[in-house]
Amino acid sequence: MRAIIAPAPNEPAVLTDIDAPRPGDGEVLIEVSHSSVNYKDGSTVLGRPGFVRTWPLTVGIDIVGTVVETTTDAFTSGDRVTLNGAGAGENRPGGYAEYATAPAASLVKVPESITSAQAAAIGTAGFTAALAVLAIEDHGLKAGDGEVLVTGAAGGVGSVAINLLARRGYSVTASTGRKAQEHAYLTGLGASRVIDRQDLAEPASAPLQEQRWAAVVDGVGSHTLANALAQTRYGGIAVAYGLAQGADLPVTVLPFILRAVTLTGANSVDAPLPLRQRAWDLLSHELDLDALDRMSTTIGLADVLDTAPRILAGQVRGRTIVDLTR
Ligand SMILES: NC(=O)c1ccc[n+]([C@@H]2O[C@H](COP(=O)([O-])OP(=O)(O)OC[C@H]3O[C@@H](n4cnc5c(N)ncnc54)[C@H](OP(=O)(O)O)[C@@H]3O)[C@@H](O)[C@H]2O)c1
Repeated sequence: MRAIIAPAPNEPAVLTDIDAPRPGDGEVLIEVSHSSVNYKDGSTVLGRPGFVRTWPLTVGIDIVGTVVETTTDAFTSGDRVTLNGAGAGENRPGGYAEYATAPAASLVKVPESITSAQAAAIGTAGFTAALAVLAIEDHGLKAGDGEVLVTGAAGGVGSVAINLLARRGYSVTASTGRKAQEHAYLTGLGASRVIDRQDLAEPASAPLQEQRWAAVVDGVGSHTLANALAQTRYGGIAVAYGLAQGADLPVTVLPFILRAVTLTGANSVDAPLPLRQRAWDLLSHELDLDALDRMSTTIGLADVLDTAPRILAGQVRGRTIVDLTR
């Protein structure tokens, strides 16, 4: 079968032919119809260290397809399923192949209302966006409670987060480095305001700044998250899920002890099944599928190799679907 594999540490991925995998105990075999390109996939395809822990390995942290064989009662042949993370493309074979195995313990049935291509468009990015929205709502925030800041706005997670939040009734400020070219795109997704990411990118001028955000969904880290925390209102929450600017976080404790701000995280890889199901329920009920289609581009398997450097350079808008049937 065709597959994109990471051949060895620090070597770029290649498109090649490999044997189809066999399902182990508690696993299903999936005929893969779609995958997607996430920031992590781009990094792995270029041979950068950090994510892959065993070689050679099929790349692709998202798998969407149809169950063709199962060793568990939880699924039957013909079920449309999706796996986001759970080690796919990191320590177990991922979705850039015509067949993949997946552990039933992390596998979700694709909701009826969502096509397989749309499930891949959602992928890890959309799933992570849903986790962030759930974290904000579990904190008690409601629409009308104040402005929500979404950083890395034109990226995959940011795009889905804006749409989900706007559909839930929140007023969303999108922070982007591509304000001129993506303003209409971001307001089309539901952002009520678009700001330049440079406003947040420099070292914080003060540990406490004007209180602007009821909540923050941050994929950028570093000074951006530090500034966002310094601007979060009393009792607000910031959800950190990414590190596009850096993994550092140069903050003081003042937002926490003087404004009772909460900093939490979203992790798509190890999310337990009930949380995965909650996130996919939210996506199936709330995400505007027309907006999802507008934020998505479809490529074939071989095109992944050219898309990888573009996603790392922040040049990809929204989501990229990989169509394995092409
Ligand atoms: N925790 C998890 O489970 C999880 C899941 C998915 C992704 N992630 C992480 O989240 C981040 C975003 O993932 P993604 O899939 O959405 O990637 P993506 O589609 O490439 O989006 C990232 C966005 O971040 C912004 N950005 C890029 N470089 C930046 C910089 N130097 N300073 C400030 N902003 C910058 C850009 O948005 P603008 O052009 O709008 O500025 C870019 O589109 C990555 O770090 C990824 O590894 C984590």
